[in-house]
Amino acid sequence: MRRGLLCGCLFLMPALCLMSGCGEKAEQEEKNSIRLGVSIYRWEDAFVSTLRAELEEKAKEYEQETGLKVVLDIVDAKESQSVQNGQVERFISLGCDALCINIVDRSAASDIIVRAMDADVPVVFFNREPVEEDMDRWDRLYYVGADAKESAVIQGTILADAYDADHSSLDLNGDGVVKYVLLEGESSHQDSLIRTEWSIQTLKDRQVPIERVTGGIANWDRSQASALMEQWLEEYPGEIELVISNNDEMALGAIEAIERVDAGGAGRDIRLVGIDATPDAVEAVREGTLMGTVNQDLEAYADAIFEIARCLSLGEPVEDHVALEGGKYYRSAQTPVTRDNLPKS
Ligand code: GAL
Repeated sequence: MRRGLLCGCLFLMPALCLMSGCGEKAEQEEKNSIRLGVSIYRWEDAFVSTLRAELEEKAKEYEQETGLKVVLDIVDAKESQSVQNGQVERFISLGCDALCINIVDRSAASDIIVRAMDADVPVVFFNREPVEEDMDRWDRLYYVGADAKESAVIQGTILADAYDADHSSLDLNGDGVVKYVLLEGESSHQDSLIRTEWSIQTLKDRQVPIERVTGGIANWDRSQASALMEQWLEEYPGEIELVISNNDEMALGAIEAIERVDAGGAGRDIRLVGIDATPDAVEAVREGTLMGTVNQDLEAYADAIFEIARCLSLGEPVEDHVALEGGKYYRSAQTPVTRDNLPKS
């Protein structure tokens, strides 16, 4: 029976191939390698670098387990959308099976999408989310990231829990008010505004008596944050009790500024909280200089990017391997990291 079916199929194959272009499919079935083009918005970004390392690890593991060769072509877009558009063009001309794009300007995805659609090369965007209108332009576009509101609610909860357990953990001078400064990421990034709004809202919802001293944009960057914090420590001596930072790198920059400027004074007690759980930040939590951070499960995050790109490259249904929201979004799970729940070193 099976044999008969097979013979029938073989007989019908040439005709069907002409009709459906299945020469392409046969080619896919024989694939013994896949090529993925990966473009990173800024090489030095600490969080994205950690994610990139996870992705490389994942590709290596897959290669070892299956024997299928994975070529990862990873490039730096150097914060330029036109450089990244050129990289996409090159990936397409090299015959990449899928693209993994950490887009520079999330509102300018259309150029990449049009090129990818013309060449029929699917795209997995990650960490920097294109606007919905762009994501809806084609059914071979995906997004992998973490929910910004969730990160912020967890960040606010770390602080509120500490305050509830002991008011003096945040209200350092015991005057009934927690005075904070806010370090924000890039103004155009979906994570910055949402994280800021929901960290503060969570503190208000939990009745922590907060008062903003000042705030500023440091673009996720340690040295920019360090410079801002240095300035604030001089402008508001002894006033700042808490630093709420949209990410870990900026919180670490603020710690460096405190150590430079005011380590011996009131600055030594200032509390800080971040998001990302980068290796340096987890170390700072262990040492007690950072109160807490938010882990975005980078293993699952990188796994989702790789699995979606791999399935698309091999013609396997993505949803059989990755749990997607609305058929195209994957959001990684997030958890608080404080001294109480640190993994053993
Ligand atoms: C955020 C992350 C930041 C920075 C940014 C880059 O999700 O928290 O640290 O990496 O992405 O897009």
